[in-house]
Amino acid sequence: MSVIKIKRFNPEKRKDSYFQEFNVDLKPGTTLLDALNEIKWEQDGSLTYRMSCRSAICGSCGVKANGHATLACQKQAENLLDKNDVITVEPLGNMPVIKDLVTDFKQFWEKVDQVKPFLKNEQAPPEKERNQSPEQFKLIDDSSTCIMCGACYSDCNVLEVDDKFLGPAALAKAQRFVGDSRDEDTLERVKELSEPGGIWDCTHCGECVERCPKPAQPFYRIKEIMTVALEKGVHNNNGARHALSFTKSIKNSGLLNENTLPVESMGFTNIKGLLELVPVGLRMLLKGKVPPIIHKPCDELNDVKRIFKELDQ
Ligand code: SF4
Ligand code: SF4
Ligand code: FES
Repeated sequence: MSVIKIKRFNPEKRKDSYFQEFNVDLKPGTTLLDALNEIKWEQDGSLTYRMSCRSAICGSCGVKANGHATLACQKQAENLLDKNDVITVEPLGNMPVIKDLVTDFKQFWEKVDQVKPFLKNEQAPPEKERNQSPEQFKLIDDSSTCIMCGACYSDCNVLEVDDKFLGPAALAKAQRFVGDSRDEDTLERVKELSEPGGIWDCTHCGECVERCPKPAQPFYRIKEIMTVALEKGVHNNNGARHALSFTKSIKNSGLLNENTLPVESMGFTNIKGLLELVPVGLRMLLKGKVPPIIHKPCDELNDVKRIFKELDQ
């Protein structure tokens, strides 16, 4: 017998959450969702969770297994057992819990709405349909696969500290329309997505890529939006300036110039922002952490320049 340890919460009966253990005989082929079903149907009918398709399509069975978000119907339970033969199951993170493993997706959906997830095209509709070539569709193919399961949202590190961040799912959805050849609002979209809480607040941790059960892979989609924003000249924000300063520094010297990076990222005319850097600079000075004033290029600068040339081509 293996143990499934489930985080339980029922505000009608008890204010705090607690773990409850269930013994389950996990056979080869049993998914985590099958195990939850066995517990509900055979042991405790009050256990509450969402499920529908059992085929990794509907996106409703997202839970945390051993601390990481996953689709319960997509994971073989045996593969999740720890060395003590236990699987720990909790509700998704970064969302309020309603009951047991059921979370409130309200903020998740509000953020999806915020990116205007619909085609904007003022042209008179063609007789049949707005065509796309296979190459054009390829640009939005991956983001189109999102099943809105919330696994990425649950484990996003930025959302843990900043609930204003749009989050990986909404941004993956945004790329679905930024990259759509039939949409006419690309510039406006990337401007809005470059505002605080948007693409540039992602810390590139890649956790959403690890958790996503589909090719939607939000972090890669966020990078695609960043590329479009830079190509469209949407540079008037800290994130874009940071990326451009970083690239310039590496291109010119092969090394990161940590003296110019904060100033260029903040913007030379952003007096308030620059003044905010002063205390940090002073602390670095006192701790002897200020980088050398003269920024020397690296020994392999020619190799770096060659790589940039190839990338430019
Ligand atoms: S890569 Fe960005 S969006 Fe994805 S989990 Fe990390 S911070 Fe969140
Ligand atoms: S991007 Fe992936 S993990 Fe995030 S909601 Fe969509 S399918 Fe789920
Ligand atoms: S039950 Fe539909 S995705 Fe798992």
